Amino acid sequence: MADVRITPSLLNADFARIAEEAARIPSADFLHMDVMDNHFVPNLTLGAPVIESLARSAAQPIDAHLMIEDPDRWGPAFVEAGASSVTFHVEAAHAPVRLARELRAKGARASMALKPTTPIEPYADLLPELDMVLVMTVEPGFGGQKFLDLCLPKIRRTRELLDKVGGDIWLQVDGGVSVETIERCAEAGADTFVAGSAVFGADDPGAMVETLRAQAAA
Ligand code: DX5
Ligand code: ZN
Repeated sequence: MADVRITPSLLNADFARIAEEAARIPSADFLHMDVMDNHFVPNLTLGAPVIESLARSAAQPIDAHLMIEDPDRWGPAFVEAGASSVTFHVEAAHAPVRLARELRAKGARASMALKPTTPIEPYADLLPELDMVLVMTVEPGFGGQKFLDLCLPKIRRTRELLDKVGGDIWLQVDGGVSVETIERCAEAGADTFVAGSAVFGADDPGAMVETLRAQAAA
């Protein structure tokens, strides 16, 4: 099994104490920050200024998940704000290759996300431009939703395509990932796991990160 990365979402953490919340999960590989604009998804969260503050105080690198229209315009600002990885939705990007190259040129990992019903095949040619693919396992917009098993074949298919490309492109899953579902995702080929309510709904979020890591590696 490849390396396993646990990237907890802080969407359901206490935003007024976000640095303290991050400190509760010291072994998290990245802090997953959900950026929503009320256009691409029907919810509104935070922007680059919050990422900038958190990047200054948190020990872990930041994985910014942009659920916004026009990521071509906004993506680079998140690198400037301190995100180490920036994920744009391919459904929203105007020029995904150009955007991925710009994110990388600025020093970040470039990542492309797919909603549950977006197929991977039309985007196979983009994969060499990327450091990670995110396969959403719920409709983006809210934490605490039920994992969609119908996404498992796409995780498998994406893994096959990534193996063909070679290199070390990570495969992330996001939405409803928990002790109940993480093994299914790992078995299908995911290696990088977002978990929001499973981590911050636990009595000990730090211990939950390690539980999830062990289960994914099993
Ligand atoms: C949903 C977000 C997720 C969310 C995951 O649109 O992209 O990152 O916080 O939350 P859980 O793990 O509760 O599904
Ligand atoms: Zn997310």
